[in-house]
Amino acid sequence: MGISQTRIHGGSVYVGGDLKRNDILIDGGVVVGMVTPGSDAEAGETIDATGQLVLPGIIDTHAHTRDPGYTHKEDLTTASRAAAVGGVTTMIDMPNVEPPTDTVELFEAKREDAARKSVIDWGHWVAPTKLDQIPKMAAAGATGFKFYQVSGAYPHDPRLAVNDEGSILDIFEAVSDVGVPCLVHPFNQAIFDALSERAWKTGSPHNWDTFSQIYTTDAIWKTAVGVLIELQLMTGVRLQLVHTHSQGSLELIRAAKDRGQRVTAAVDPKYYQLTRSELQNGKGRVCPAGYVTEDPARIEAIWAALNDGTIDMIDSDHAPHTLDEVAAQDNDAWSAGMGSPQYDWLYSIVLSDVAAGRLPLSRAVALLSEEPARLLGLWPRKGSLLPGSDADLVLVDPGARHTLTDEGLQTKVGWTPYLGRTITGVVNLTMLRGTVIARDRQVMEEPGFGQYVAGVAQ
Ligand code: DOR
Ligand code: ZN
Repeated sequence: MGISQTRIHGGSVYVGGDLKRNDILIDGGVVVGMVTPGSDAEAGETIDATGQLVLPGIIDTHAHTRDPGYTHKEDLTTASRAAAVGGVTTMIDMPNVEPPTDTVELFEAKREDAARKSVIDWGHWVAPTKLDQIPKMAAAGATGFKFYQVSGAYPHDPRLAVNDEGSILDIFEAVSDVGVPCLVHPFNQAIFDALSERAWKTGSPHNWDTFSQIYTTDAIWKTAVGVLIELQLMTGVRLQLVHTHSQGSLELIRAAKDRGQRVTAAVDPKYYQLTRSELQNGKGRVCPAGYVTEDPARIEAIWAALNDGTIDMIDSDHAPHTLDEVAAQDNDAWSAGMGSPQYDWLYSIVLSDVAAGRLPLSRAVALLSEEPARLLGLWPRKGSLLPGSDADLVLVDPGARHTLTDEGLQTKVGWTPYLGRTITGVVNLTMLRGTVIARDRQVMEEPGFGQYVAGVAQ
């Protein structure tokens, strides 16, 4: 025990799958041990956590920082500030920026620029659309790769879309060789296009409501996932499927896991949290979802998968667009910036389901922190509060309730899709590598504090 140490006193610490009434000791940015609350300990700083939970910070594998290129919506700094107050300590962001990150030169330029901007630890999924760039980007430290099967207008940039299955096979082969994860946004573009044509012919409005109904059609996702799982089997690539809100996809993923395939799945809150009435009353704030929660069997399948481990992760898909952009495009949703900001209250949204009895705390921590750390090859350095782990954690008042408004948000776009919702479980403090980066919903650290998370071959 010494004065260089920080002691978090009086809380219930989540460690080894359970809450323990211990004080946690931190030195040099890492957890060095636990002591009973009554024991003597000289510490340089004591943080009072009486009545609070001490949980691992969220590791979010799905951020859209909009940086570079779309920084009127968000940038590395504002995204990381919103993340910090929401309980996120590491984020990995997506390549659909301008220019899209599809060469080693662009990746290095992004990394150099971003190094000065992020408050939290961060990494970057680069695009594998240029085969010769894959080994070069991996050697330069890319966290992993991400491509989209969906194409159209921004944010689904055609330059990042790969539909042709032969090309996907080539990409999987090349990414498998370098050993880092390959994330895919599954989508059967041909079915989507056909259903869109039909809707337009019958005079359906080209708005968010029609778009959302077509976009979330189960077969569009399930047929894509079926092929991706076959191509994974052929190549052994470490495959992570995002936006896993399709009941049919969940059945295919469960079977692939039973066969021992290296497939994991993430779902983002908008698909299982937000309802169609919120889409309509919230003036498009919840696009493109709303329709998933309309189908009782489907939403039940998602909850079962969150609980039984078929879904490995909740990722945020923090995808800010300005409210003006979203509203202006309600008459042309096919060329619109779908997506919503998610960071400011992310932990609270998930903990509200813990409070309501829909998810055990152990699953919430696994979904938000442990499994993402494993995907990145970082567990137990991150995603855990064991001795030797980075002191990346949050203090949560589990009983505190708060009704969400657009006031005081850190995201640059300044709005939340959860307007009017009352959450249970408020993050009061976020710590990254032993340093308090947010307290009482204020950001305490400067841009540049965040360190880069390089890819780990597994
Ligand atoms: O809702 C979404 N928004 N889904 C995506 O796949 C992309 C994202 C964005 O970048 O806005
Ligand atoms: Zn996304």
